[in-house]
Formats: sequence, structure tokens, C-alpha cells
Amino acid sequence: MNDIKVFKDIREWKKIRETFEPRVGLGFVPTMGALHEGHLSLIRKSISENEKTVVSIYVNQTQFNDNNDFKNYPVDFNQDLDMLKKLGVDYVLNPVYEQMYLDNYRFKLTENNFSKLFCGQDRPGHFDGVLTVVMKLFNIVRPKRAYFGEKDFQQLTLIKDMVNSFFMDLEIVACPIIREHDGLAMSSRNVLLNAQERSLAPMFNKILKMNISVDETKKRLEEIGFGVDYVEDYKHRRLAAVRLGKVRLIDNEKI
Ligand code: PAJ
Repeated sequence: MNDIKVFKDIREWKKIRETFEPRVGLGFVPTMGALHEGHLSLIRKSISENEKTVVSIYVNQTQFNDNNDFKNYPVDFNQDLDMLKKLGVDYVLNPVYEQMYLDNYRFKLTENNFSKLFCGQDRPGHFDGVLTVVMKLFNIVRPKRAYFGEKDFQQLTLIKDMVNSFFMDLEIVACPIIREHDGLAMSSRNVLLNAQERSLAPMFNKILKMNISVDETKKRLEEIGFGVDYVEDYKHRRLAAVRLGKVRLIDNEKI
């Protein structure tokens, strides 16, 4: 196992960051922890493409429009850290709200178009929270490349657009969706499904992949017990969010 350095204090990290060569190839993978193979695939890619890899673990309160969702979000820092050590990650950032939001969220980054669609319709303020924290993290880490999953396709698109809009000097690397053997897209929230919900969950992807209309997709999902937040076609992809009990699942497939 390699020597991994964990920073809870952003100021401590910044001191170390100052000592790096200006052209250092830093890869960065932002996460909210409760790590699974989906996250690990991004981290492996970063390690293979960069001199050093930084992973952040920060459950970002401002992107949760539902306080219960925030409170129930799974946290297992020690298990996460073991995984990151085994992979050979160099640096872990695990900051607290008081340091990330020195201004108590007085300043935020808002996108007024695409972020209001799809997941943004059901989760007001969600993407403002995501974009704000990702910009903060980019400024703190100053990476050369940052890795994001296509699982959160709308998030990935908005982050690419943000980087272009603000002339931010880094590359965004898109990574494919990692699935369970039964096709369910891996997600930290999957552990919150009860046995019955978990056995129904793979049908979400099966129906999403069918060569049928958006309306037919919605109908089939609803018939077997999913609550449908949306199913929409966008740029050769079919994007969808559903609910099983209290758990919200998202997925997308190329069409
Ligand atoms: P989180 O849900 O922890 O996801 C961190 C990264 O892992 C995201 O880029 C996400 O798309 C990717 N990811 C999650 N499940 C995946 C899967 N099954 N296959 C491939 N990639 C997957 O997304 C967030 O955190 C937050 O919004 C964050 C960007 C960290 C800002 O707070």
C-alpha cells in the first residue's frame, strides 16, 4: 500500500499544493464518498493518466434539495480510505462545510437553462450546488484533468459547459457507466433499497434500453411499480429518473 495523505484542512492542502511544480499533472476525482466500482473506475483512469491523483470526499449539503436525503446519505470514511489506499491514490481531501463555505453560500454559480430541465425540474437548486462546489474544488486542487461519470450525464454536460464558459484551465474526462451484473447502474444510494426494491431495480435499465417510445417507457415503468420523475431523449441519449420507495435512481442509455 502506498503512502496516502488525507487533508481535512484546506489550508494544509494548499500549503502542500504550493510546493508542486507548476506543470505537475494532477488528476482529480470529486466524490461524495460511499465509494463503489463506479467511483473506482474514474480513479483508476486518473491514476493511469496523471502523475498524481487527488480524490475529494465531501457530501455537499448545498446540492441536496431534500434534507432527509442529505441526512440519509451513506457515509463510511474508513472503508473509503482503505479502497483509496489499495488503488494507490496520493491525496484525499475531506473538508468540512465551514471551510468549503466560508461565505455560508452567499456566492453561488447558477446556470439558467439546461440545469432547469430533467433532474433540475424535480430538484430545485441542485445543480447550483453542484456547480458551485465543483468550481470551489477546482480552485482548491488546480488539477490538469478532472474525471466525471456519464451516469450523471446532465451533471457532466453542465460541468463541461461551465469550464468552457469561464475559461477554466483543465480538461474534463468523461467515463462510462459501471453497472451491477444485473444492469443496475452503480450508485451510493443503492444500499438504501430494501430487498424487494433491489430486486425490481434492474428493470429500470432493461426498460430504458428497449426500442420503444418515451411514453411507452414511462408506462411500462409505472406499471411495474416505479414512480417516474422523467424520461426524456436528449442528444442521442435517453435520460431518466425514477423512484423506488424513498430512493431516487437515475440512468441513461445511448439511443
Ligand atoms: P458522486 O455521486 O459521489 O459521484 C462522483 C463521481 O462518480 C461522479 O462523476 C459520478 O458521475 C461518478 N459515478 C457515480 N456512479 C457511477 C457509475 N455507476 N459509473 C460511472 N461513474 C459513476 O456526483 C457527485 O458525487 C457530486 O455531485 C460531485 C460531483 C462530487 C459534487 O458534489
